[in-house]
Amino acid sequence: PASTTEPHPGELAVGGVPLAEIAERFGTPVYVLDEAEVRDRCRTYRDAFPEAEVLYAAKAFLCRAMVHWMEEEGLGLDVCSAGELELAVTTGFPAEKIVLHGNAKSPRDLETALRLGVGRIVIDSPSEIARLAAAVGPEGHQKVMVRVVPGIHAGGHEKIRTGTEDQKFGLSISDGYAQHAIARILDQPQLELTGLHCHLGSQITSVKPYLQAIRRLVGLMARLHEQHGLVLPELDLGGGHGIAYRPGEQAMDLTTLARKVRAELAEACASAGIAVPRLIIEPGRAIAGPAGVALYHVLAVKRTGSHTFVAVDGGMSDNPRPALYGVRYEPRLVGRHGSSTLHPVTVVGRHCEAGDVLATDVDLPDDVRPGDLLAVPVAGAYHLSMASGYNMVGRPPVTAVKQGHARLLVRRESLDDIRRRDVGL
Ligand code: LLP
Repeated sequence: PASTTEPHPGELAVGGVPLAEIAERFGTPVYVLDEAEVRDRCRTYRDAFPEAEVLYAAKAFLCRAMVHWMEEEGLGLDVCSAGELELAVTTGFPAEKIVLHGNAKSPRDLETALRLGVGRIVIDSPSEIARLAAAVGPEGHQKVMVRVVPGIHAGGHEKIRTGTEDQKFGLSISDGYAQHAIARILDQPQLELTGLHCHLGSQITSVKPYLQAIRRLVGLMARLHEQHGLVLPELDLGGGHGIAYRPGEQAMDLTTLARKVRAELAEACASAGIAVPRLIIEPGRAIAGPAGVALYHVLAVKRTGSHTFVAVDGGMSDNPRPALYGVRYEPRLVGRHGSSTLHPVTVVGRHCEAGDVLATDVDLPDDVRPGDLLAVPVAGAYHLSMASGYNMVGRPPVTAVKQGHARLLVRRESLDDIRRRDVGL
């Protein structure tokens, strides 16, 4: 991940820049994005799925540079708020290559989407249909998809599973809600239904659930064709492709996924007697995650009866994932060699609660001490995008490294920023 190299023992570098140098120049905590790695990952998707439209799921991490890279690499975007959408479009991203998601789109989300001319809006609830049709107006035109629930269990953690009926996203096929919503969309001449969408969940490493989803969605497409003579040109399988957070963990094999998805889609469509729709996929984590590293300084080392706590200058406000999903990371000591005797420690943050743990059972040199630098690999997705203002420590900056140079993409949130928003008294 993030093409880390070790020019000298202990001197970890990304994109040809020693991490210690980045910490020195930009301070910590700081995020480091390897631009070449992000671009490589986009190309891997384009190569594996040449027939498909690949949309980067902006929720994983978005900034203007990222928008720019996605456009240059020929990807579209999946956004789920007016905020993500505006950032993309004001950076110059073509609105027609953007798909808007959301189970509860606000009036502002819809207004922005229509004003900027977003490519497709994914309908996620029945009430949205009339609301959208009214906003589009009788003379207007908007392409839409419908998010359906295929009834498939997949995904790394209960909180990020979205393929089954017991969660808030999408319209159930088995209960007929999806079919009902589709019939209502077909009644609205200003809405053009281009396809079905599903997103099974996140951090999925098995190909099988995607193949099951294809069968369910193609089955529904065939029934719609029969009942309404409807030909839907698009099928969006969402994202969710898993990555390895620690050495030895399994990641989704994209070549296998692409090959099997292609074969399944062709076969399912042939046996259902419908034309093969254009495939859309929406990877987020698999593009940004492995390309990012989070850098922290150690502030305190404390031994208790059974534990050694290594406390760093960030924590759950910049990475809530261990607390939310029990994800395990493997921080590494950088900038110096360290003792060769390793000792299991718990890496904790600086926030005022005991659950503020970044990594457990990490083997670090037993001379780890305040002032040391720790790097947390695979920090490019759902870290900064989920960062909070807890304890007013300010969100970390984002830097990009490329061919031996580092540059600032997003600056650190300062106390001044925080103070300026507070206009009461
Ligand atoms: N498409 C839709 C409609 C989605 O809801 C998502 C993610 C994606 C695509 C991209 O999924 P990815 O390829 O990144 O797995 N905060 C959680 C992940 C939540 C994912 C939400 N939706 C985490 O940190 O693991």
